[in-house]
Order: sequence, then structure tokens, then C-alpha cells
Amino acid sequence: MAGIGEAASIISIVSLSVQLFDGCIKGFVLLSAAHELGSRGDTLRCQLEWEQYHLNDWATTVGLFRDPPELNVPYPPLVQRTLSNLEQLLTNATKLNQDYGLDVLVTDEDIRDVQTPKHLFGRILDKNKPRFLSDTAKVYSRRNSAWKKLRWASVDAEKFRLLLKDIRYFNKQLQGFLHDTDQKKICREDNVLMRSIVSQTSDKTLLNSITEPLSTVDAAIAASARLKQQGILLELVGPVPYHSSASSSKTAFALPVTYSSRKYPSAGSSSQLRCNPDLLSGCEGHKSLVVSREIALYDRKHIILEWKDVDRALESKLKHRIANVAALLAEMKDPAFHSLSCLGYLKANRSGRYAYLFEPPFAVGSKVSMRSLQDFLTCPTRRPSLNSRIAIAINLAETVLQLHTSGWLHKCIRPENVLFFENGMGGWENSADLPQAYLGGYEYARADNPLEATEAPSAQRHSQLYRHPLSIGQGRISFSKSFDLYSLGCVLLELGFWTPLQGIFLSYLRQKSDAAANLGDGAAPISLFTPKSDTEYYSMLGEKQRLLRETGPGTIYADLEFKMGVRYSQVVLKCINATAVSGGEDEEGFDDTLEVQEECLETLKALAAAI
Ligand SMILES: *[C@@H]1O[C@H](CO)[C@@H](O)[C@H](O)[C@H]1NC(C)=O
Ligand SMILES: *[C@@H]1O[C@H](CO)[C@@H](O)[C@H](O)[C@H]1NC(C)=O
Ligand SMILES: *[C@@H]1O[C@H](CO)[C@@H](O)[C@H](O)[C@H]1NC(C)=O
Repeated sequence: MAGIGEAASIISIVSLSVQLFDGCIKGFVLLSAAHELGSRGDTLRCQLEWEQYHLNDWATTVGLFRDPPELNVPYPPLVQRTLSNLEQLLTNATKLNQDYGLDVLVTDEDIRDVQTPKHLFGRILDKNKPRFLSDTAKVYSRRNSAWKKLRWASVDAEKFRLLLKDIRYFNKQLQGFLHDTDQKKICREDNVLMRSIVSQTSDKTLLNSITEPLSTVDAAIAASARLKQQGILLELVGPVPYHSSASSSKTAFALPVTYSSRKYPSAGSSSQLRCNPDLLSGCEGHKSLVVSREIALYDRKHIILEWKDVDRALESKLKHRIANVAALLAEMKDPAFHSLSCLGYLKANRSGRYAYLFEPPFAVGSKVSMRSLQDFLTCPTRRPSLNSRIAIAINLAETVLQLHTSGWLHKCIRPENVLFFENGMGGWENSADLPQAYLGGYEYARADNPLEATEAPSAQRHSQLYRHPLSIGQGRISFSKSFDLYSLGCVLLELGFWTPLQGIFLSYLRQKSDAAANLGDGAAPISLFTPKSDTEYYSMLGEKQRLLRETGPGTIYADLEFKMGVRYSQVVLKCINATAVSGGEDEEGFDDTLEVQEECLETLKALAAAI
């Protein structure tokens, strides 16, 4: 008999939960629609809508929208209290006044229909989350009394934030009641959605609501959003102007027209980043075109220089851009970028070369020593642990994800641009493992905007190996995120075999199966890493797609599984195959590469935690 009593009480908990949930949604809709929220209103309303979305997501996950409704959480009675607290916050005018000092008046006017959130998600919501809108409409349709419009009598942004904070607190509590797997799923989907929003929107309000100090967005995503804001400010990132296809070939340097400095305050900082070449000492790159990266002294402090050759004919156009790129790179301070922070740029007087100046990741003053992944891959005696190699993979995958979220493409991901630093005292021989990896080589990075000028990337032969065939040569198509992923996949392959990409390709092309088996075992002679002739080099370029795609016994992929396991190999394949899978962007501009990246990063992190 106890069983029936229990079942009955569960049913009543579920139906009460539905009622309370409906009350919350009503509160969200009415508060969002209330007039006169003040000048910061848009951002606040956007955050309110975001909380509504979270609650809706939670309700869908537990099954409140099923017929009959369900409450799939480990311990249903907990839910009720939190939901009822939340409902009070959202609907009780007395409470709003007493606890938050917010005065809201109920008007005589009915809400006729539930509106589409104005800023929240923009086009992204319309496309991918229509469920959210139809769910809200469903709640509205089952109301049993009129929803009267509200009007703010007095409202203060600070007080409203306090309310938001408490709403979030209860939302978080509700999420905490979910089964573990559901929590993880919601968290991942949230991050993917947030990242697609940041990468696609240029809506100032929406970006503000994400970067606000009180925002609950994942810190790394917020950092991406800040970078995007800065990119828009500097006119480096922006929406692709409409009606542009006809004129795009003529106006290669067109800036996004919708983002003039009228709309955003002037950035102003980029000109202050110009450094004085006379303060530079101990460097070679100002006269030697061979040197592209070096450590030098600027104003007697250690810095890292990345040199950039600028075609004289394009200089007047590019110098402004270099200043802006420096200002943007200076903004990449969040640790999730695994990038050096930029101090400025300069132009060497005699050679006319430009350089970006970066701060080393160590305390200023100590001696700094720098190596690239390329240096280590060609040094057969260095044998970092699997943990160390996967840690590098995570650093890189995270950086690329961060850049792509903020609308940037790196375009030169290869082992020469994966950097490691030591403070010079201990040297590099102390441990087989490598310190944290940094991604450098932003000299060709550009905003993810097909109209923006693309500088011809360095024609260095070696770098071609890491580039997707569609991004090279005459018929190349506009660079997209999936091309960066291809290069990332190539570097992950190297990390797996612990052998330079050339060496991997050559050993398979030369059909020396035993040589292939020895890859990365520390015994491989350097000659294995370099083509014997141009013919061999070009056949390697020609065959690489086949080599990278083949599966089955004796293939690169099978050997990677042998060395690194199936899950790591799948990550590599997903990256390399990203172009095929996503097919670039569809006509609405949606692309799912961010989702692929989020999955890869998650897999790598899970691997790192387990080994
Ligand atoms: C609204 O809140 C006040 C103060 O917290 C409380 O006394 C009152 O009962 C609540 N009203 C409703 C309808 O729940
Ligand atoms: C280099 O250029 C800067 C700024 O254009 C100038 O102030 C400085 O005197 C020049 N130095 C030399 C050695 O020519
Ligand atoms: C790459 O993606 C395409 C398209 O989805 C698929 O047909 C192909 O099998 C994938 N390649 C591999 C090796 O998985």
C-alpha cells in the first residue's frame, strides 16, 4: 500500500512542479516585456531571457513537457522548494519590492502573445532553438487567467542585477538536482550554443550581456566574447555586409560597413601600441629576412619578436591593420588563449620590416629561452610522456576553439608556431615533459570575414603540408574554420607519433612498414623526416589526402590507433575531416565546426584525466 501512496505523492509533486514552472515562465515573460527598464535595460532583459532559456532547458530535460509530464531527477521532492522560491521571485510584486526595492505595477492590459526575445540568440535562436519559443507559447496557451502586462515604476540596474543573481542561484540549484549525465549534457550544449552565439552575433547588447562581470557564462567563453567586442571596436571583426557578393572582388579591403566608429566608441588604443625601434637590441630580424621569430631586448626587457614582411605596395593599407591586430592580440590575456600577450608593434627603420612584440610568460628580467614543437619533434632523444603530449593537444585545441569563437582564424597552425618557454636557468633537459604550450604566429591571422583582405601566406614549402588542399594554390577558396582544424589535426597527428608530419608521410610512402612501426620510437634517423628530392616532396603533397583518410590495416590511422588509442585517433580524424563533415557554412551562415571542436576538446580532457 505504501507503494501506491508513494506513487500518488510523486504524481502530485509532478503536477505541482508543472504549475510552479508555468508560474516562473509567466514571471519571465512579464518581467521581460515590462516597459521602462532604463538605459541598461536591453542588456538586463537579455540576461533575464537567458535565465528563462536555462529554466526551459531544465524543464525539457527532466520531462515536464512530456505528456504526461515527468520529473526525472534522483530525488523529486527537492525540486519543489526551489521551483517555488523561483516562482516567488519572478511573480510576487510585494517580494520584489521588499527584497529588491524594485517597484512593478500591474496594468490592465493583457499580454496578447509571447514575443520572440529581441536580442537573445538573434538568428541563432530562430534557427536552432525554435523549441524554446514553442515551449513558451505552450505555457502561455495553458494559462487559466489573463497575463496582465507589467510596468516598472522604479527600477535600478544594480537592484535588478541582484534579482538576476538570485534567479541564477535557483536555476543552478535546479541543475544540481539533475542526474549526472543530464548535468553534463546540459552544460555541454550550453557551451556549444553560447559559443555559436558569440561567433555569429555582432549585437552589442548580446555581447555585453555575455561579458558583464555578473554573467554566468563560462569564463573562457566570456573571454572570447570580449575579444570579439574588441575586434568589432577595431573593425577587424564584423558581420559580412549584405549585398556584397557582386562587389566583393573589387573591394578587397572593404571594412564591415555596418560597424563604423559611430556605433562603437573609438578604440583609440591601437596607435599607442607603436613601439620605438631604437629601444630594441640583440635582434637579427630587423635586417635578416630569414629570422621570423626571436627573443630580444626592448627597453632592456626580454621580449619575443615576430617579424612580418610587408609588401611596400600594400604598406599604406596594412600598417593601420597591423596596429589594430596588435591591439587585438593585446586583448588575448585570458589563460584559455594559451597565447602570448602582445605589447605592441614596431617598424624596423632600415629594412622596413614590421614586428609584433610579445611578453614572455615569465617574470620580466629573468632570462628566457624559447623552443618550438618543431625543434622537439626533430630531436629524437626527447621523449615526453603521453600525458605531456595530450596536454599540448588540449592547449592547442582550446586556443583554436577560443579564436574561432571570437571570429578569428589563425591560418598558420603548424609546429613552428607551437612555442614553449623556460626561464633559462634550468635549461630544457630537466624533464622529458614539456611545459605549457603557447600558440604564436598570428602574422596572417585574420577575422573570419570572407571580404577581408587575405595576405598571401608564406610560400614556405614546409607549411603547405599542414594546409588543406582547398586552401592552397590557384583555385583556393576562402579560408574557413575547418581549414584551421585540418592543420590542428596534422599537429595532433605529430603529437601522437611524436614525429614530424613529413616523416610520417614519407615512411608510409616509402612502403617501409618496419620504418613506420618505428616512428616516434626515438631511433628514427633524421633522413626519414626529409624528402630525398622534389619529386618525392610533390608526391607526398599529392598523396597526403589519401594517406590521411585511409583506414584499415597498415594505414596511418590504424597505426595512430595502435599508439594513441581509438578516441584520440577519432579526434584527429574529426579535425582532418572537418571540411567534409561540415561542408563549410550553409546559406544562413551557420556552421557546426564549433560543436566538433567542443567535442574534441572534451574527449582530450577526458583522456588526460584518465591516463
Ligand atoms: C508575496 O511575498 C510576501 C512577502 O515575502 C508574502 O508575505 C506573500 O504571502 C507573498 N504572496 C503570494 C501571493 O505568495
Ligand atoms: C628610427 O625611426 C624612428 C621613428 O620613425 C626615429 O625616431 C629614429 O630616429 C630612427 N632611428 C634611426 C637609427 O634611424
Ligand atoms: C569524412 O567525412 C565524410 C563525410 O561525412 C565521410 O563520408 C567519410 O567517411 C569521412 N572519412 C573518414 C575517414 O571517416
